[in-house]
Amino acid sequence: MLFLSLLVSFVMAATASNLYQDFYLTWGDHRAQILDDGQLLTLSLDKVSGSGFQSKMEYLFGRIDMQLKLVAGNSAGTVTAYYLSSQGATHDEIDFEFLGNLTGDPYILHTNVFTQGKGGREQQFYLWFDPTINFHTYSIIWNPQRIIFLVDDIPIREFSNAESIGVPFPTSQPMRIYSSLWNADDWATRGGLVKIDWSKAPFTASYRNFSAKACVWSSGSSSCASKSSNSLAENGWQTQELDAISRKRLKWVQKKYRVYNYCSDLKRFPQGLPPECRR
Ligand SMILES: *[C@@H]1O[C@H](CO)[C@@H](O)[C@H](O)[C@H]1NC(C)=O
Ligand SMILES: *[C@@H]1O[C@H](CO)[C@@H](O)[C@H](O)[C@H]1NC(C)=O
Repeated sequence: MLFLSLLVSFVMAATASNLYQDFYLTWGDHRAQILDDGQLLTLSLDKVSGSGFQSKMEYLFGRIDMQLKLVAGNSAGTVTAYYLSSQGATHDEIDFEFLGNLTGDPYILHTNVFTQGKGGREQQFYLWFDPTINFHTYSIIWNPQRIIFLVDDIPIREFSNAESIGVPFPTSQPMRIYSSLWNADDWATRGGLVKIDWSKAPFTASYRNFSAKACVWSSGSSSCASKSSNSLAENGWQTQELDAISRKRLKWVQKKYRVYNYCSDLKRFPQGLPPECRR
């Protein structure tokens, strides 16, 4: 009830895409670029450095969509991270990480959820398409009841609010969007066996068509404020849950494409699986 009334008091922000307006390039010098009048953002990685950007705004709940086209060819050892995160030791975080691979071998989409500084909730997936040929849409729906990860509007993972059984859920710390492209060849590809081939550098990932239907947090103030919209299409994420069709799709992805699920990793949790896995 508290959350519902909070949400009602929020004014919604629907951001039209201009990447100059929405993001700061934060590191990597010329390796991070916004192009085409704000319609395209690229990150690159070479032997000297990776690069990254972050959102200007902080969000507390929302639906965040971005289209990404990942490093093509031999991307082994590279990681493209795209995530939401708050600050500090007890931060919350919602992660997409794309682990590169040798030409023709599949990327892994790694996901994780941190609450109150604690993560360790990894699920990993192969994709049902080659993510380096075209742009695909990666989305996070974050409302007080659940977090849903989607790829091209197909749900791949749901993390439900389990505060009632003592599992913290991100409900109060505003998050920014971050992305970076970096060298992770000590672990990313086949557990670190395959190293980056620097003769193929620079490696480049591209971003476009960002949309945030979200509550924007303005510092020092306890309510969100921005452009308003009351249409159902803009605000549906607030109470969004998986309907029968979405649930069927989620099951399809999990059955055919999920390659790791912490909730099935009994060896890792000899004292018993985390509580959210036992529901
Ligand atoms: C890379 O390809 C190998 C061989 O197909 C596969 O086992 C692995 O899961 C792939 N992805 C990553 C990121 O290692
Ligand atoms: C941009 O994203 C919106 C949804 O946020 C989608 O409806 C539209 O088709 C996308 N545009 C392109 C060019 O893919």
